[in-house]
Amino acid sequence: MRLTHIALVAALTVSASVNAQKFEGLALTPTMGWNSWNTFACDIDENLVRETADLFVKLGLKDAGYEYVVIDDCWMEMERDPQTMKLVADHKKFPSGIKALADYIHKKGLKFGIYNCAGTKTCAGYPGTRGYEFLDARQYAEWGVDFLKYDWCDHSTQDARASYSIMRDAIYAAGRPMVFNICEWGDAQSWEWGGNVGHSWRVSGDIARCWDCQENYGGWAKLGLWPIIRLRGDIRKYHGPDHWNDFDMLEVGNGMSPAEDRTHFVMWSMLASPLILGNDIRKMSKETLELITNKEVIAVDQDKLGVMGFCFLNDKGFEVWVKPLDNNEWAVAFVNMTEQKRTLNYDWNRYVKDSLTNRELKCGETTYKLRDLLAKKDAGDTSKALVREVESHDVVVFRLSPVKK
Ligand code: GLA
Repeated sequence: MRLTHIALVAALTVSASVNAQKFEGLALTPTMGWNSWNTFACDIDENLVRETADLFVKLGLKDAGYEYVVIDDCWMEMERDPQTMKLVADHKKFPSGIKALADYIHKKGLKFGIYNCAGTKTCAGYPGTRGYEFLDARQYAEWGVDFLKYDWCDHSTQDARASYSIMRDAIYAAGRPMVFNICEWGDAQSWEWGGNVGHSWRVSGDIARCWDCQENYGGWAKLGLWPIIRLRGDIRKYHGPDHWNDFDMLEVGNGMSPAEDRTHFVMWSMLASPLILGNDIRKMSKETLELITNKEVIAVDQDKLGVMGFCFLNDKGFEVWVKPLDNNEWAVAFVNMTEQKRTLNYDWNRYVKDSLTNRELKCGETTYKLRDLLAKKDAGDTSKALVREVESHDVVVFRLSPVKK
């Protein structure tokens, strides 16, 4: 009797530890997709989501690598079902139900993502998951959810790591692989513990559509591109395949200048952040479409080495960012941080060392072929200085490939 008891306890311990894991390998490169929040906030419905999925295919976004179509906050009714306590999709916004929407998206060869929150209520006041983790995860699995963004509003004194770990376990127990996007804004340094819990974690509060601003909303603030980038220069070591620093959803196509949009997209790729579009893709300009489907820039983001780039030099108003790539290649971006057009005059013959990977870029010893990624053109090699006119807040970015002797 006693032995059986011990065996049972042992079996339970084993199964508990087996369940304490995330689904591995779902984000070997940073996740790419679209999320409703940045443009639509609560104004979402199934037609918008279906049209977006249709356009993923029609406009070549799917072909460029975008895969996840994600609905953010406000998809639910204000209360759970009083009998089953299950979450209920808003009947007016999603009359066909979430399962039908997920099926539609899957038929296009895409994946479907949803949002909830570790606290009692979501940030927009809808039912949060606290206390219902296993029920909600089973519900998402039944609906065919492939991605969960999990927010941090209304969490009272909850412990972040414990709260996110419970949801990880609930997803695992529900048995359907889902990318788990931790969205606790870096308040509890999620990069320090997130690698075993989720596939990516937000490093900041919400993004604002601006170069270098901060928009204050009482107790919290939205940050522009550079405040977000500057906030977390020191978390490169936590970042890599299946566990990414997430610099927030993109604001490309949402009102910044074309130059700023280019820099935004290139920088998110240099940082190897998830690339989650946040614009209305039904109405975007040709220029926006061309930028977000630029496969050569996307390849920098998706490089399988998975290293986050870093600022190597601030040179007369230009920031020089470098990112080691697989195959002894590098990406190098020059951003004009000033308010005027400037001439970049860059001598490649410098020594760059990435202290994280110990990779060295020595253009004095090895000549690298240059590929201009935004112009999609070869651009000579590193034996000559680079001279370029660069507009204010604009960027030029190159892939450097060693020339074989
Ligand atoms: C938080 C998140 C945003 C968005 C909203 C929804 O602010 O950080 O990305 O999901 O909640 O209410």
